[in-house]
Amino acid sequence: MPPSPLHLSIFFLFTILTISSSIQQINSITTDQVRAGFWLSHSSSYSPLANINTSLFTHLYYSSLFVDETSLEITLPPPEKLPLLTSFSATLKTNNSALKTLLSISTATPSFSSIVSDAHHRGSFIDSVMALARHHSFDGLDLEWQFPSSSADMLGLGLLLTEWRARIDNEIRGTSPLLLTITVYFSDHVFNGTNTTTDGLDYPIDLIKNSVDWTNALCFDYHANDETVTSANAALYDVSSHFSTSYGIASWLDAGLPPQKLVMGVPLFGRSWFLRNKLKNQLGSPAVAFGPRQKRSNQTGVIAYFEIEELLSRTNTTVIYNNQSVSAYFNAGDLWVSFDSPDVVDEKIAFASHNRLLGYFLWPISFDSLNFEISRQASDTWLKEHDDSVDADGVDAPEQALSPTELQPQNLAPTQSISIASSIRILPAVHPFQLIFFLPSVIICCLAIL
Ligand SMILES: *[C@@H]1O[C@H](CO)[C@@H](O)[C@H](O)[C@H]1NC(C)=O
Ligand SMILES: *[C@@H]1O[C@H](CO)[C@@H](O)[C@H](O)[C@H]1NC(C)=O
Ligand SMILES: *[C@@H]1O[C@H](CO)[C@@H](O)[C@H](O)[C@H]1NC(C)=O
Ligand SMILES: *[C@@H]1O[C@H](CO)[C@@H](O)[C@H](O)[C@H]1NC(C)=O
Ligand SMILES: *[C@@H]1O[C@H](CO)[C@@H](O)[C@H](O)[C@H]1NC(C)=O
Ligand SMILES: *[C@@H]1O[C@H](CO)[C@@H](O)[C@H](O)[C@H]1NC(C)=O
Ligand SMILES: *[C@@H]1O[C@H](CO)[C@@H](O)[C@H](O)[C@H]1NC(C)=O
Repeated sequence: MPPSPLHLSIFFLFTILTISSSIQQINSITTDQVRAGFWLSHSSSYSPLANINTSLFTHLYYSSLFVDETSLEITLPPPEKLPLLTSFSATLKTNNSALKTLLSISTATPSFSSIVSDAHHRGSFIDSVMALARHHSFDGLDLEWQFPSSSADMLGLGLLLTEWRARIDNEIRGTSPLLLTITVYFSDHVFNGTNTTTDGLDYPIDLIKNSVDWTNALCFDYHANDETVTSANAALYDVSSHFSTSYGIASWLDAGLPPQKLVMGVPLFGRSWFLRNKLKNQLGSPAVAFGPRQKRSNQTGVIAYFEIEELLSRTNTTVIYNNQSVSAYFNAGDLWVSFDSPDVVDEKIAFASHNRLLGYFLWPISFDSLNFEISRQASDTWLKEHDDSVDADGVDAPEQALSPTELQPQNLAPTQSISIASSIRILPAVHPFQLIFFLPSVIICCLAIL
């Protein structure tokens, strides 16, 4: 019996739906590498957008807009600052048309808890930020929520992201889908020890990995609360605690987040202390207070990379590189500073690459030196690592035989250094898998018509 026209059209419809949904899925995961930076909207006086060397980045974030605590709506910048938001994408893309821009939304816990716990609030939040992103020509959106403070918050975050992804997938076809990222605590498990209520919460990995294009882990500020002892702001390794970037990255991967959905944070600021005794000036030396507020970074105990450079050259100070923790520090008199020097950044980016992460982000690029020294170091190392994974014949080096799923997160321990060259798999525009579905359907349809 020949198939009826109704059968045929259902069949065609099904085929088309299958194809378009798989194209949609492929589209949402085709970002092949991330060399990102966050730019602070209040830094425009010393870090003008037009000066950013955009060739060093694949993605730049506008950081950030906030949610108003009472109205629960997004607060727009004051009129005189609005042009920075409006022109962000166009300005940055003039020198790099391949660059993608994202609008980052920062949250504070009480107000954001109210949003994520209520389906109606979640819906209007998603609608308003998507409209804002489209209106100001951003390619994507980011949600920064470092400290969800209850299991209800964590569940609400998962629901929000799931609904957000559905809305992005259902947006009018023809426009490329908005990117969706989250920027979160350095570990998947919150344990910062200052608040026993929030300690022990886990991010909802399954809902996260099915919704976001990637997760930015805030791998820094590990000892921002302890005034009494000098510490590395963002050590790659720490043999005496879990406050390290290697631990944080391993925790996300162990919990099941695929490495190609994870992006490692690198700080462009240091942390400073006043030493009790300037002859005791190592990591872990006694301190009496946090260091002074600097002119630009404007926060006690914080110092921007360009402020560090000024201080180093003014005082002719030598930087010590600690190769065990992979961190750098120095003291100028009784002021002690820990920060990410170019050597540290080189080592960290190689670590991200060897663990097959999607990429890295710098926070914030407004704090880089005039000639973008750290951004350049990070980008150069990343690109070099990815060149090295291809041998002279342009054929993948043998170490690449292992797929990302075979690389166990436990291998991240500093003592077991991994030599597996990293490779980012670039998916073809049409995945071969789609053709397997597509071709037989076309043949059957043609036969049926005949
Ligand atoms: C952008 O491109 C213009 C023209 O090629 C060039 O003069 C300028 O230096 C570039 N700016 C940056 C920040 O790279
Ligand atoms: C931007 O960085 C690239 C890569 O390091 C470099 O070749 C170029 O000269 C830089 N542009 C400017 C304007 O500094
Ligand atoms: C811990 O966090 C919870 C939720 O944010 C807050 O209600 C509580 O006051 C905090 N406790 C301390 C000791 O900071
Ligand atoms: C620890 O978590 C609390 C929120 O529970 C946050 O306010 C605080 O800044 C965190 N401290 C550090 C050092 O990350
Ligand atoms: C520095 O921060 C304080 C608040 O901590 C603010 O009142 C002041 O305006 C800031 N100064 C500059 C120059 O941004
Ligand atoms: C800077 O310090 C080094 C040794 O630490 C010394 O050789 C050099 O002369 C100093 N330069 C200036 C300008 O003081
Ligand atoms: C760290 O530096 C010391 C002294 O220079 C050296 O002996 C050691 O092998 C280095 N360790 C690593 C892990 O590179």
